[in-house]
Amino acid sequence: MAKLKSVFFCQNCGNESSKWLGKCPACGEWNTFVEEVVNKAPASSSIKKGVSIVSASDERTRPVLIENIEVTQEVRFDTRCAEFNRVLGGGLVPGSMVLIGGEPGIGKSTLVLQVVLNIEGKKTLYVSGEESLNQLKMRAERLGTYANKQCYFVSDNSLERIFTHIKNVQPELLIIDSIQTIETELVESAAGSVSQVRECAAQILRYAKECNTPVLMIGHITKDGTIAGPKILEHIVDTVIQFEGDQHYMYRILRAIKNRFGSTSEIGIFEMQHSGLREVSNPSEMLLSHNNLGLSGTAIGAMIEGIRPLLIEVQALVSTAAYGTPQRSATGFDARRLNMLLAVLEKRVGFKLSQKDVFLNIAGGLKVSDPALDLAVISAILSSNMDIAVDPSVCLAGEIGLSGEIRPINRIEQRILEAEKLGFKKIVIPKFKNIDLTGRQIQVLTAEKVEDAFKILFA
Ligand code: TYD
Ligand code: MG
Repeated sequence: MAKLKSVFFCQNCGNESSKWLGKCPACGEWNTFVEEVVNKAPASSSIKKGVSIVSASDERTRPVLIENIEVTQEVRFDTRCAEFNRVLGGGLVPGSMVLIGGEPGIGKSTLVLQVVLNIEGKKTLYVSGEESLNQLKMRAERLGTYANKQCYFVSDNSLERIFTHIKNVQPELLIIDSIQTIETELVESAAGSVSQVRECAAQILRYAKECNTPVLMIGHITKDGTIAGPKILEHIVDTVIQFEGDQHYMYRILRAIKNRFGSTSEIGIFEMQHSGLREVSNPSEMLLSHNNLGLSGTAIGAMIEGIRPLLIEVQALVSTAAYGTPQRSATGFDARRLNMLLAVLEKRVGFKLSQKDVFLNIAGGLKVSDPALDLAVISAILSSNMDIAVDPSVCLAGEIGLSGEIRPINRIEQRILEAEKLGFKKIVIPKFKNIDLTGRQIQVLTAEKVEDAFKILFA
């Protein structure tokens, strides 16, 4: 009988210890060690040693000069989903392992199912540890017609059985939904524990690399927003993609956090509909609601998400505080940044906002962190405060400094182009150098201080 061995794992970073520790020596987190039973030497320990699984005569172990390395042109796998391809850096790379993380119910399974059903002429195997075949079929029917006639589904949790299915089906693309529900006999502890996740992921990775089959793996997310399981999961996979958005809104953003085969600044935008996810190729048009333009308290900001310019509507409501302490609330925007901007308006521009309630809302349920939105935020606040509408054909971009100056921002040209494309007549930006504006229809106005912008907007 195999000897049972109990080991303690840090739930945060996957660090292993033979005894319980209060503080993880690797990542410094407190109270993260959990006991797990391991009954055989996990295969990943032999992977770590490296040499033992690759014999010395093996081709792969011989060092090669960089100019002698043969480049085999990677043929990327077109997923038939332009937004997904974009985030992957132009398609799936054969043999790569992609981890897709996201909160429950955000649409990870829907996205992946939609992708496999639309890939034509590729044999795919979809392993679901969460849903029955019946549920998968119902979901597939909701998504409508599908092009892929070679899509196999199996509902299973055992890694050993999954490898048997792989042997039988010989898929060209493998889907694991989700890694936290898969368990191997090699490890005694329950599915979803650090040692299970680590071991299963290592074995699937080995399969992906040996058979050159791409793997899409869904991962759960913990309360604090990191992918559940050890950090090493993120280290071993080639690409980590986060699917995010607000459950109460339709928009979903797909974002690469790590990508060995492409840039991490690309994002993909989707809209959740009755019949699944729809790609949004022109997000700005959707984020601008054209009906309430011309009302006070609304301003349009030109922001950059990843490397894509987006025009977004900022709404503010300023009203006299009914009770002693005024309320400040922000949806989709950092509340501390809002307080800072209010302090700047109070101190540098002389608006008495300290006795006012201020509510701020970013349209579409997006969370924005681009500081260039500051100018649109203060314009919306001032507009609501004075009850004067901002000209609906003006859009704004600029970061506000503590002394009320409007600071330079990146990618100004892209923002100007996007504003022009969407038919805006004017854009207010910080002072700039070396920007070629020839051929631009849009009127570009510069402001150095908040007062300048104020004059442009409300004079
Ligand atoms: P799902 O893909 O199951 O989420 P995850 O795998 O990330 O947990 O998405 C489920 C949500 O998506 C569910 O709350 C309903 C919604 N949805 C639609 O609105 N339309 C659809 O066609 C489908 C399939 C799901
Ligand atoms: Mg799911």
